Amino acid sequence: MPATGLNVSRLRCEYLVAPLGLDERVPRLSWIIESDRRGARQIAYRVRVTSTPEKLAAGENDCWDSGRVGSNQTTHVVYAGRPLRSRDVCHWCVEVWDEAGHTARSEASVWTMGLLEKGDWSARWIAADPGIIKRDPEAIAATMTEPGTPTLFRKQFDITGPIKRATVYASARGLFELNIGGRRVGQDVFAPEWTDYDKRIHYRTYDVTSLVNRGRNVIGAMLGDGWWSGYVGWQATRARYGSLENSLLVQLEVELADGKRLTIGTDGTWTCNTGPILSSDFMMGETYDARREQVGWDGTDFVGRDWLSGREVAAPAVPLIAQRSEPVRVVETSVPVSVNEIRPGVFIYDLGQNISGWVRLRLKNIPAGTRVVLRHGERLNPDGALYTENLRQAKATDVYICKGGGEEVWEPHFTFHGFQYVELTGLPFAPGKDAVTGCVVHSATPPAGHFECSHAGVSRLWLNGLWSQRDNFITVPTDCPQRDERLGWMGDAQVFLRTASYNMDVAAFFTKWMIDVEDAQTADGIFPDTAPRLREGENFVGLDGLCGAAGWADAGVIVPWTIWRVYGDKRIIERHWQAMTAWLDWIERHNPAGLRARELGNNYGDWLCIPTDTTFRTHSPMKNLLATAYWADDAAKLARMARELGRETEAKRFQAMFEKVRTAFQKEFLREDGRLTVETQTAYLLALAFNLLPDNARARAAEHLVANIQALDWHLSTGFIGISHLNPQLTLAGHADVAYRLLLRDDYPSWLYPVKHGATTIWERWNGWTEKDGFFNPQMNSFNHYSLGSVGEWLFRHVAGIELDPEVPGFQKFVLRPFIGDGLDFARASYRTMHGEIASGWKRDGSKLAWSVRIPANTMAMAFVPSRPDSAVTEGGMPVEKAAGLRVTGREGNFLICEATSGAYTFASSL
Ligand code: BGC
Repeated sequence: MPATGLNVSRLRCEYLVAPLGLDERVPRLSWIIESDRRGARQIAYRVRVTSTPEKLAAGENDCWDSGRVGSNQTTHVVYAGRPLRSRDVCHWCVEVWDEAGHTARSEASVWTMGLLEKGDWSARWIAADPGIIKRDPEAIAATMTEPGTPTLFRKQFDITGPIKRATVYASARGLFELNIGGRRVGQDVFAPEWTDYDKRIHYRTYDVTSLVNRGRNVIGAMLGDGWWSGYVGWQATRARYGSLENSLLVQLEVELADGKRLTIGTDGTWTCNTGPILSSDFMMGETYDARREQVGWDGTDFVGRDWLSGREVAAPAVPLIAQRSEPVRVVETSVPVSVNEIRPGVFIYDLGQNISGWVRLRLKNIPAGTRVVLRHGERLNPDGALYTENLRQAKATDVYICKGGGEEVWEPHFTFHGFQYVELTGLPFAPGKDAVTGCVVHSATPPAGHFECSHAGVSRLWLNGLWSQRDNFITVPTDCPQRDERLGWMGDAQVFLRTASYNMDVAAFFTKWMIDVEDAQTADGIFPDTAPRLREGENFVGLDGLCGAAGWADAGVIVPWTIWRVYGDKRIIERHWQAMTAWLDWIERHNPAGLRARELGNNYGDWLCIPTDTTFRTHSPMKNLLATAYWADDAAKLARMARELGRETEAKRFQAMFEKVRTAFQKEFLREDGRLTVETQTAYLLALAFNLLPDNARARAAEHLVANIQALDWHLSTGFIGISHLNPQLTLAGHADVAYRLLLRDDYPSWLYPVKHGATTIWERWNGWTEKDGFFNPQMNSFNHYSLGSVGEWLFRHVAGIELDPEVPGFQKFVLRPFIGDGLDFARASYRTMHGEIASGWKRDGSKLAWSVRIPANTMAMAFVPSRPDSAVTEGGMPVEKAAGLRVTGREGNFLICEATSGAYTFASSL
């Protein structure tokens, strides 16, 4: 912190730090201000954007100078300078003023624009010459059921003068890995990321100035299958977008010091060959024969006489789009906690954590040709052998064939697995523990939150939710990473979204995915159940297939709503406005009376509740209740968003729709005595959460809910849909004690039951494994599905008490309100918002409570201090009324309410 006590940092453009190759023509800029002083506020800012760093330093603001703007805005400041063009490099910084007269200037940051016009691409799409497979006796020709041998491409070129800057733009139908001069370009894996290839294809931009040399250079590219041509979902065939042929697009642009520009693009002069990877597929795994490595294939000394020419193929008809979210990376590595030889030559490694990714294999002095087989699984059978039955058709098997001599280190390229255990076989002698390293792979969304408390099991429960998020956020939010599924299931994503946003900064990730969701919407306005959409087969949206299910398709409204609420992002609701209204209009067209009982698609209901009902397409009063409740809530959300967008007529229309549906809900499902006609926990939860009951019926409904829980001997029975509402609604209805009671149970069914039995991620179902029955039917039994982990939201919102303001989005104003429950002695959480980090931690000692909070500069909070009505509340040892930065505004039951300006506070009170 500088002497002025004011600092401005964390400059981001479209949520990303120094992004390259944006195609958002009017990007938004954000920063945070930091100050230890209570009440520090930004009163003005000035953003300057220039085309070179020198100009930024000299104050020659040739792109944009906002001038001094009197405002406390630090997020989503819309660029308003000269129109941005392809390849623009924008250097920027911000200067801020606070209310005490201090000023601070940020370090410089940068973003660059990508290729905005179709004509910017001179490179041609190329594919392999099929001759490379035919002439290679070991190579495998890909079929609709068998993954084939990936292609290597190379191109040699000369650069005559000194280089100023080199940028490479790359895309593929398939997955690419690029090298220049034998050095890896970027650290991304699985690029370009998954989209509906019939609608758009991503490209990536990399600054490769440090990789390109004056003189001779070589670009090498490896091209794999991925979502484009490999297995996706549970389908029996590959190539879900219609083609087995992968193709590559690379455009390297070199700016020379003398101002000349050189472009090296893929075309028929690139050569291709097969390489050491014999086959590779996300679900099936990778086979790699290290004896086939052509040393230096991507270097300048390599001749490659027998390489064949690449083949130019037709460019896709759809637009190329810049990737706008964090790339997938190896984010972490982990070492095994144990290795066990269960049978002669069969070694089981335990990573101690269920992860997504792969193994880095490290071997020494193994004879050439040794075939090492790695199989992956989430659990072990009782006899200690690997349990793989629940992977269904996914083989999840990697094979490494050694080249022999010295040390060999290998990782697969175009596959990933969901696993905690690895079975290693094929070695002539016992491998050491260091033969296996787990590589944790996921979209590199920045960490945002941390939670811990005095109960080790609950802390682990939170961590298990975080791990399931990490393991499943792989370019899109998937249901599970291990079996032959891994789809962007919308119901799972929406119930977990608030939890996800506390755990990680998921703004860019969901902004990207929401485009996939809209791409998958049918012409009639039906949102899908999974996104991105897959072509053909039973996944074909519009063929009465995967679309329109209540609680799943409704994510098309819930995602923009939540990203707006959590990140203050208005653009996402503007962008998807038409899509959201088309969806509601479609529901209404088919259900004019306000009860949503028709056109419910696969109609999953409260998926995996107890007793479970996993029938599809069937109807029941509970499913109608659930669907109607979601429709009402969609309408209420649209009414509120319409107001935000200044669409008053639509605000009225959707408010009226909400009221109509609410009335129909009460008529159909609410009985005179305040009970619902469908008596499940989820029915009561939805009625409460979505405000579907008359005010005077709410308290009774909450009592019926509690009675239901009590009748099950204080156990939960909700499935995916009800679970995220369970503890929040109990708490808000005055039954926090019941919420804590449910949280702390560890017998079946409960959140802590899996934790007690060693879970390191969230299980798909409450009974994934039980002492009584062992593993559930492997046909649908993942140990890594985040939905039931949506209790993470409650841990942040109500246990630590970090909650959104009911009206103001984006956490510039927020609520701090912890509910202290029996069974925990302390709980603390931190949460990095768009405005900086909020922290809240409490500790109780008998009836004494100490509560510390941190409120970021330029924000304020309504702090609800837990305290007995007649007791004294202090802050920093002084009566709270005297504390600087605080204003006591009243009391609500066992909470003293204070308006708190930014800064750190320590409250003491009696419970
Ligand atoms: C998936 C889900 C999904 C569900 C729909 C399952 O196969 O794994 O998590 O939401 O189908 O009912």
